[in-house]
Amino acid sequence: MARTIIEPFRIKSVEPIRQTTPQERARLVEAAGYNLFQLHSQDVMIDLLTDSGTGAMSAEQWAGVQRGDESYAGSPSWFRFEAAVKKLFPFEHVIPTHQGRAAEKILFTVLGGPGKIVPNNTHFDTTRANVEFTGAKGVDLLRPEGRDPALDHPFKGNMDTVALDALLTEQGENVPVVFVTITNNSGGGQPVSLANLKEVRTVCDKHAVPLFLDACRFAENAWFIKQREPGQGERSIEEIVQEMGSLADGMTMSAKKDGLANIGGWLALNDPKLAHECRTLLILTEGFPTYGGLSGRDLEAIAQGLQEVVHPDYLEYRIRSTGYLGEALMKAGVPLMRPVGGHAVYLDAKALLSHIDPLQYPGQALAVALYLEGGIRSCEIGTVMFGRQPDGTEVPSPNELVRLAIPRRVYTQSHIDYVVEVVCDVAARAESLGGFTIVDEPPSLRHFTARFRPV
Ligand code: F0G
Repeated sequence: MARTIIEPFRIKSVEPIRQTTPQERARLVEAAGYNLFQLHSQDVMIDLLTDSGTGAMSAEQWAGVQRGDESYAGSPSWFRFEAAVKKLFPFEHVIPTHQGRAAEKILFTVLGGPGKIVPNNTHFDTTRANVEFTGAKGVDLLRPEGRDPALDHPFKGNMDTVALDALLTEQGENVPVVFVTITNNSGGGQPVSLANLKEVRTVCDKHAVPLFLDACRFAENAWFIKQREPGQGERSIEEIVQEMGSLADGMTMSAKKDGLANIGGWLALNDPKLAHECRTLLILTEGFPTYGGLSGRDLEAIAQGLQEVVHPDYLEYRIRSTGYLGEALMKAGVPLMRPVGGHAVYLDAKALLSHIDPLQYPGQALAVALYLEGGIRSCEIGTVMFGRQPDGTEVPSPNELVRLAIPRRVYTQSHIDYVVEVVCDVAARAESLGGFTIVDEPPSLRHFTARFRPV
């Protein structure tokens, strides 16, 4: 039997990649203030900035776009969307939003507020920002193995249930909801086991606190459970997803990831009173409850995407292609976060560029070098993103990572081989790379707009 895992699709519609020279890229990145968010995407050859909303839709999804019914209320596209969500996540109430953070904003507006605490295995940036915007505090309770980039462990996204129990024992009355993020994006795209979810559920039940999933990459998480968790190998992905959902009281979702769509999201939950309050806010800022922030055609694309994303051929290809990149780099001795996660490879710039002071941003230096060398756009997740403190001081981030996020169904194996080559070429001359200094930055979320200068 052949051993090569092929892309389980062929290509019907293509987009050209504009080839640039190193000289051109040097000019372009300087004009962008050495901030890759400021580049025009046409000047990028392989765009690994994010896996969010950057996937390729299938012919069936495009057919759904054509079928989309744009009625204001009660559109058939809404009913198809609702049924597709409930097939995987049988929550009573489904509330469509334009993307994940809109679902977060609505939920935390109702549940948050000063004095409240929201625990999570690791909050994603927008989740933390939406919790904190209400005056509440976000607390990350990741198990210790999840915090060590070099340690191999099958479920590095697992929550520390002992710490959760202690927090709920002391301050349970201030905790309106416990969140678990699957997969744990900020922790390296690492999965959470079913066993851990069950433990979290038990602790939540003991303290009568609801449990919600931040389920953006639920299908990738389910695939890891099927592959790695004892006793799960024979189950279908749908069954595993349904069980993950059954352990929770609700979820927030960005359909830009495992919805296989370019926009969209939802909030789903069982509590009728909470659902009523959330729908009231939905109408204020997103739209009528049968479309939320979405057009009928978006609802169709997501409904179809949810069927495709749980297909084992798709998930085998998806997780294998991320693993392929990670393994090739590890074999070449490039330091990265282990094991390789579902949607991205995280290069360890602290290990590769140990000669660059953390306050001269080794992650930024590596990200800029990958662009200069091969036109690859990645994302710094280190001191540029997290270093500036609310009191104005600057503190090095514990990790200096560069995320190579893989868009779904977009790049082929030769694109990835090219990425391997470029990363290895940069790694081979790592000592020659220098750091950066910031010449201009906004008061918050500086990584999007700060301008840099080489030291
Ligand atoms: N939760 C997680 C775990 C995420 O990764 C994201 C988005 C969101 C929530 C918010 O969803 O973008 O639809 O509003 N992550 C993207 C990324 C932006 O690049 O990792 P959204």
